[in-house]
Amino acid sequence: MSPLASDSGVALIFDEGQEGRANRYVDAGASLDAFLPKALLRDDLPLPDNSELDVVRHFTRLSQRTFGIDLGFYPLGSCTMKYNPRINDAMANLPGFRDLHPYAPDELSQGALQVMYELERSLASLFGMAAFSLNPSAGAHAELAALLIAKKYFKDRGETHRDKVIVPDTAHGTNPASAAMCGFKVISIPSDARGRVSVDEIKKVLGPDTAVCMMTNPNTLGLFEDHVHEITAAVHAAGGLMYYDGANANALMGNARPGDMGFDLMHLNTHKTFTIPHGGGGAGHGPVGVAAHLIDYLPTPVVVAKQRSNGDASTAPSDRLTFTLDFDRPKSIGPMRSFWSNFAHAVRALAYIYANGAEGLKKVSALAVLNANYIRVNVRDVLTTPYDEICRHEFVASAQELKKETGVRALDIAKALLDRGFMAPTMYFPLIVPECLMIEPTETESKETLDVFIAALREIVATAKTDPQSILDAPKNTVVGRVDETRAARHPDLRWHPGKP
Ligand SMILES: Cc1ncc(COP(=O)(O)O)c(C=O)c1O
Repeated sequence: MSPLASDSGVALIFDEGQEGRANRYVDAGASLDAFLPKALLRDDLPLPDNSELDVVRHFTRLSQRTFGIDLGFYPLGSCTMKYNPRINDAMANLPGFRDLHPYAPDELSQGALQVMYELERSLASLFGMAAFSLNPSAGAHAELAALLIAKKYFKDRGETHRDKVIVPDTAHGTNPASAAMCGFKVISIPSDARGRVSVDEIKKVLGPDTAVCMMTNPNTLGLFEDHVHEITAAVHAAGGLMYYDGANANALMGNARPGDMGFDLMHLNTHKTFTIPHGGGGAGHGPVGVAAHLIDYLPTPVVVAKQRSNGDASTAPSDRLTFTLDFDRPKSIGPMRSFWSNFAHAVRALAYIYANGAEGLKKVSALAVLNANYIRVNVRDVLTTPYDEICRHEFVASAQELKKETGVRALDIAKALLDRGFMAPTMYFPLIVPECLMIEPTETESKETLDVFIAALREIVATAKTDPQSILDAPKNTVVGRVDETRAARHPDLRWHPGKP
């Protein structure tokens, strides 16, 4: 019997099902036969036979067991968990977008292509790049796309000996992973005492084998890499390319542009910066951007606009254009995803950009920075803040001292926050900060929410000093208590399979 049955009191035999229990509102066999070739249909699919009601209850119960941005404060550093405005979903659900077939010809898809074109143009202008491809479906996917572009670019120049990718030690794990997956050798560069990547160390490893230097700015400590111009100049002088990891773009919209900092390649996590719902492995959206000399290498298809022959000068510029999907790009690395990738996310991102406008987006970043600093200055007397200066959209605190004094670690603080109704901050990342808590509030939270979070954090630290066991035993108020972290990490069992107890 499913474990859900025992804690809910509902006799739900979800995992095994009961033969003949499934509701047959639709004769699936007959209707599928009409659409799918017989060879693609299986009759041996061992799924549990459940009624629709059992299935609805199962998933509703699971949704109630989890925590989401619509339930409470979610300060998960580097993940930019901000409110997802419902207008974005309303736009993505417009029937003309929602029901459009991916094989529909360009002439019947003009509205959708215009959305992709206007999003691409907006991102290029906001981030100072020559062009973007909306094709990749997440940050890591876009990193891979960018490194494939770099690889092809060097191959075309006869520089296949460029096989090293430089990555600061504060980088997200996907940076070295993408580089290794692309066949590059990774060189990790230490940060200096100010939490910035060491320029001297980068200069030491530059040479004729340098392919790409990957940077996140602000970095994952929430600090602006203020030597970025010196680094881009040195890497370019060595013949390498600069890559900008835009996961932290929420800190700088309208205030600084990677293109102006000298980056040749970049990605955005529109599912973070541009309010697309994410988490739990859901569909993401990772546009990859390039400077002019790399445009030909972008993944296909790229949306291009042509002037309409009968264009009326009194209409909006985009109404005087026709849009096509260009697949004919001989130097392209090819598609990273089928069809138009996660098109609904492009609609959401553009809706967010147009709802805010240029000034609004600038304010978004300013408020994100203000909120992070507000929490930082209100907790720095109870938790160590190793880089004690004005941060950008996030900051890191360390529970190292508290651990020495009380045995309470960053992990325990995180669990205690769950008990108090908050999602935990990102923990133990970046790796260079011991007992790290990385806190990113985003601009969408009110001062009142920040105040109760600050009060909770202070109370947890105070309790750790008087009654550490109560923090070590947390969480007590959540549906699932403390789990075996090692087993969960080493032997994750995330798939349903027949007969699973
Ligand atoms: C700094 C940084 N780079 C890259 C990524 C990877 O992005 P994604 O999760 O969309 O693959 C993340 C994700 O959290 C990140 O924080």
